[in-house]
Amino acid sequence: MLESGPEMSLVCLTDFQAHAREHLSKSTRDFIEGGADDSVTRDDNIAAFKRIRLRPRYLRDVSEVDTRTTIQGEEISAPICIAPTGFHCLVWPDGEMSTARAAQAAGICYITSTFASCSLEDIVIAAPEGLRWFQLYVHPDLQLNKQLIQRVESLGFKALVITLDTPVCGNRRHDIRNQLRRNLTLTDLQSPKKVNSIPYFQMTPISTSLCWNDLSWFQSITRLPIILKGILTKEDAELAVKHNVQGIIVSNHGGRQLDEVLASIDALTEVVAAVKGKIEVYLDGGVRTGNDVLKALALGARCIFLGRPILWGLAYKGEHGVKEVLNILTNEFHTSMALTGCRSVAEINRNLIQFSRL
Ligand code: FNR
Repeated sequence: MLESGPEMSLVCLTDFQAHAREHLSKSTRDFIEGGADDSVTRDDNIAAFKRIRLRPRYLRDVSEVDTRTTIQGEEISAPICIAPTGFHCLVWPDGEMSTARAAQAAGICYITSTFASCSLEDIVIAAPEGLRWFQLYVHPDLQLNKQLIQRVESLGFKALVITLDTPVCGNRRHDIRNQLRRNLTLTDLQSPKKVNSIPYFQMTPISTSLCWNDLSWFQSITRLPIILKGILTKEDAELAVKHNVQGIIVSNHGGRQLDEVLASIDALTEVVAAVKGKIEVYLDGGVRTGNDVLKALALGARCIFLGRPILWGLAYKGEHGVKEVLNILTNEFHTSMALTGCRSVAEINRNLIQFSRL
C-alpha cells in the first residue's frame, strides 16, 4: 500500500504549513507565522523568489547529481540547513532535542537559538555528532555573554552566529493581541526548567547598544568563527569583511523585525558583490522549494537556512517531521539541479538566473 496513510499526503513544504495551521493553538500558530507590522517583507520573501526565472542547460549527463557542499570547512549533505528559532517545546514536547536529532540524521547544520527551550547540554546529548552553530542575542551584560560563549565552545558548537537585526523587538501585532508573553509564561512554558541558565519566563534582554567596535571583544574571547546574521546592505557587508568576521547570513528575520525591507533573495546580490568572495554568504527567508535553494546558490549563497518550515515539520511529527521536511526539500533541490544541468553545487552559477518583470 504505497499511496495510503497521512504521511503520503504531505508532499511539499507548504503542505506542512497547512497541517500546522490546523493543529497548533492560535497563539502558537500566530507566533510562528507572524511578521512585523503589515507583513510586507514576510510575504515578499516568498514572492521575490517567484519573480526569478531559470535558464536551464541540457545534454549534460545528470545521471549523478551531488548535493553536498561545505560551510566553514565542514561538509553538509546539501546546502539546506536549520535557522535559529526559539521555543521548539511550544510545538513538540522535547523540542530542540528532536530538531537536533533530525539535523544530525540529515547531515546538515542546525543553528541553536539563544531562546532554545531545552538546555544546550541536552541538545548536545541528543545529537552528539551533529554539526551545530550557536545563535547569540547579545546580552547587555558582556560577562554573561562570555560565560555563555565559553559554554557553547566547550559543548562543541562550531560557530557563533550573532543576530544583528534585533536591537529592539519588531512590532508583531498578533503576539500583542494574543498577549503572547503572558501566555507563554502562564501556559506553555510554565515549567520552571532552566533554559541556558535563565528561567523560561525571563526572555533574556538583548543589547540595544551593540556596535561594530564591540566585535573585537567577541573575537578576543572565542576562537569560534563569527557569522553575522541579518545583514541586508552592501555597506554593512563591507563592514563585516573589514571587521574580520567569517560569514554573513543575509536575512530579514523572516520579516519579523523591520517591515518593508528587501526580500532576502533581493538583498543577496548586493551583499555577495560587496564581500568579493572574501567570506561565505548564506541566506534565510522564504525558502520553500528546491528551485528557491537553487536560485539562492546561483546568486551567490553558500547555503540556505530554513526557519518556519522546520517548526511545521516539528509540529507534524517531531524528529520525523523535521526529517521529512529536510528530505522533501533536498529531493526537490536534487531535481532542480538535474533539470538545470548541474551535477554539483559548484556548477550552479549566475547564468542560470533570469530576472523577469513579472
Ligand atoms: C525566528 N528567527 C529567529 N532568529 C534568531 O536569530 N533567533 C531566534 O531566536 C529566532 N526565533 C525565531 C522564531 C520564529 C518562530 C521564527 C519564525 C523566526 C528568525 C529565523 O532565524 C529566520 O531568520 C527566519 O525564520 C527565516 O525565514 P523563514 O524560513 O521562516 O521564511
